[in-house]
Amino acid sequence: MQGFNILGINGSIRANSSSHAVMQEVIKNFSTNTKFTLFEHLADIPSFDGSDTDPEQVADFKSQIKRADAIVICTPEYAFGVPGALKNALDWTVGSGDFMNKPVALITASSHGEKGHEALQHILTALAAKLDTSTTLLISFVRAKVKEGCVTDAPTIELIKRLSQHLLNTTGNL
Ligand SMILES: Cc1cc2nc3c(=O)[nH]c(=O)nc-3n(C[C@H](O)[C@H](O)[C@H](O)COP(=O)(O)O)c2cc1C
Repeated sequence: MQGFNILGINGSIRANSSSHAVMQEVIKNFSTNTKFTLFEHLADIPSFDGSDTDPEQVADFKSQIKRADAIVICTPEYAFGVPGALKNALDWTVGSGDFMNKPVALITASSHGEKGHEALQHILTALAAKLDTSTTLLISFVRAKVKEGCVTDAPTIELIKRLSQHLLNTTGNL
């Protein structure tokens, strides 16, 4: 399976974030024929206000989702939930169906992360995204598994590899 267009969304906008390191490990699993784009403008998306007209940054976010064959979300849990910037961006897509039937891999990389992981699965289900247990991964104690911007924990590297492969299989079977 080749030639997919995959969009990565990092739920942490912190410099040197662990989620960024995990995303880099995900990218390693895609062949050079796969075009991987990292969306790096979550912080620029205005607060969702229910308006009918999308601000420019929102229109760009939505069009990148639309164009993608599959999405990878990698995020920490903040205050037992989904980071505000990520939740806000996803709220803009509720009415538009941009995620409908879109294969999504969800990685929560956090100190613990269970609640944020579960909450995000509910949100993605509400958006009608396509995900299942083989395309979701919870990486707890992430700070101990990442060093200098790289994932160093061998079992975690293997789990990320399997998840990436499942995402490609799901995308190829659509
Ligand atoms: C404001 C804040 C709230 C946090 N809340 C949680 C939490 O509820 N659960 C958890 O597992 N980790 C929590 N953490 C710890 C993060 O999981 C940890 O710092 C992680 O490395 C952050 O991800 P990042 O490095 O990708 O930014 C919190 C961290 C911050 C800064």
